[in-house]
Amino acid sequence: MKANALLTKKLLPEAMEYLKKHIRYEVAGTDRYPTKKEIISGIKDKQGLVSLLVDQIDKEVINAAPHLKVIANCAVGYNNIDVFCATSKGIYVTNTPGVLTDTTADLTWALLLSVARKIPQADRFTRQKKYKNWELDLFLGKDLEGKQLGIIGMGRIGKAVALRARPFKLKTVYSDPKKLTPEEEEKYEARYLPLENLLKTSDIITIHAALTKETHHLISRKNIHLLKKQAFLVNVSRGPVVEEKALAEALERGDLWGAGLDVYEKEPEIEERLLSLDNVVLLPHIGSASYETRAQMSMMAAKNLVCVLSGKKPLNPVNKI
Ligand code: DGY
Repeated sequence: MKANALLTKKLLPEAMEYLKKHIRYEVAGTDRYPTKKEIISGIKDKQGLVSLLVDQIDKEVINAAPHLKVIANCAVGYNNIDVFCATSKGIYVTNTPGVLTDTTADLTWALLLSVARKIPQADRFTRQKKYKNWELDLFLGKDLEGKQLGIIGMGRIGKAVALRARPFKLKTVYSDPKKLTPEEEEKYEARYLPLENLLKTSDIITIHAALTKETHHLISRKNIHLLKKQAFLVNVSRGPVVEEKALAEALERGDLWGAGLDVYEKEPEIEERLLSLDNVVLLPHIGSASYETRAQMSMMAAKNLVCVLSGKKPLNPVNKI
């Protein structure tokens, strides 16, 4: 008999076709996300679970699944899963690294340019038929050339963002617990700075750090005042890396040029004050949302699941079993 898995939601069609050929599965949420109770009740007799980044796969869920062998997260980030608990029970946790790097770096630049050049504001203005005359000072933005780009988190996505900075003639600095080798620094044209120095000296700050205990509120009330007046911040990593209330206050005070956010501290809730600020560009966590990338992520999650359920090692484990 084929192994049985629970999918919290459907993956993209290619991956569903693949799963159909290899295993049996149930989908917990069809028109909406399943509740924790529904995941717990669905997972009891399953050997595999495919989760999305919004599903909290904590101790309670894992303990409810005595037959579980693998949790295949369809995301590169896996802060939604209690990996420690899964490991202690011999359950593989897998993710989808690599395939979303360029797509997320592209979105970072889209967001960065949107904030620098006020593109959403100008679009709203034009749609509202307010464009009556060319004006010398209409929607004046910021040039990028010669400015300092500070990248927080120089992993795969941070590096892809750095490569895209070169044609814009920015000076790139980065902060990461792991310093790059001199060869890598040359390749990415990026210079290491400790976080505090990066915050103090950068004109544009973009965050690409995974959410861990150490990175929770990495930008907070304690250090946001270090940012240069007129600097701006982009976050496409995980919301809780930035203390959202402190950011909203800094923006309200006019301490910053603006912000571009794809992720939120209590997603999908958004700090009310951010919604009413005109210099903030807000997106609904679409960093990796191109059809090609989401299809590849779906397929990777499906393959990781099937590998483990057919007795093999997964392709992208995040823990050792
Ligand atoms: C991830 O994979 O972790 C991203 O946040 C999804 O876009």
